[in-house]
Amino acid sequence: MNTAEAVLCMLRDGKRVSGEAIATKLKVSRTAVWKAIGRLRKTGYTIEGDAKGYILREVPDLLLPFEISNALLTKVLGKDVEHHMTIGSTNERARELAEEGRPEGTLVISEVQEGGKGRLGRSWASPEGGIWMSLILRPGLHPNETAVLTLAAGVAVAEALRQQGLEATLKWPNDILIDGRKVCGLLAEMSGDMDRVDYMVIGFGINANFPVKKLPRAIREQVTTLEDVQGSPVDRRSLAVSILKTFEGLYLSSDPGAIIGRWKGLASTLGQRIRITTPKETIQGTALDIGPSGALIIRSDTGEERTVYSGDCQHLRKT
Ligand code: BTN
Repeated sequence: MNTAEAVLCMLRDGKRVSGEAIATKLKVSRTAVWKAIGRLRKTGYTIEGDAKGYILREVPDLLLPFEISNALLTKVLGKDVEHHMTIGSTNERARELAEEGRPEGTLVISEVQEGGKGRLGRSWASPEGGIWMSLILRPGLHPNETAVLTLAAGVAVAEALRQQGLEATLKWPNDILIDGRKVCGLLAEMSGDMDRVDYMVIGFGINANFPVKKLPRAIREQVTTLEDVQGSPVDRRSLAVSILKTFEGLYLSSDPGAIIGRWKGLASTLGQRIRITTPKETIQGTALDIGPSGALIIRSDTGEERTVYSGDCQHLRKT
């Protein structure tokens, strides 16, 4: 913990604390306390100061490393957080860090992304108010075993939203929907060889506190935001923390069967009429089940049972 974070801890309970008391407790000079207060103010904390001391009036609505790690109580995930006000893509940054050897659990968060990436080479609009974050994992798995981890990330998001009273469901492979509209997408990218994944980055894109009209017109019909659904902003910090906690539980359990079981319990895809588009073909049919590695099993309209490992899935209206 650096001095600014330690000062913040002492001001947390909203009581006035003198500069001298802070300096004594932290064993630093009064100048160091004053500099730390300056740094906190620059970050967005409203701290009043007078002859009697300092008092914390407001915490900024930012997903700051200290605010996240402090609340997390996880073992691995989010212990090391890099925060940006603006970045191209948190997934790109997390990949850079992973290449540099940063440990599993490192989290990159940005308030805005200017080059947010979606699945299948699409772009991902990422205005202020969303939760745009990417996690580095080093699961040591075979590449075919990693799809389940993305399913686990979807479970973590859907369960965190449900805890806040929002009726989230999962659309295969990794979209989170509310009222049939997409509120969160996940982008998993990995690096390694044929036998073993060196690292994996899972990016979470959650449309949280902004109106849907901030998103491109072309997608507005299919998407929604938490603020629009709920009619008021959500607490982004506690949502991010809750997602990371649940995800860590699933990740460390290394139990694909349990993850798939929980995924199925939250799914809106199973039993649905669907259309799957892959680079090679389009399959229309009914979604039957999820296989042990996270693949979707479909009864196609031509009567065959098909297993699909990736692709774009569209829920069709029942005819
Ligand atoms: C999708 O197409 O559904 C996946 C969207 C994933 C978006 C997130 S936002 C944080 C992370 N950084 C990115 O550039 N993309 C992912």
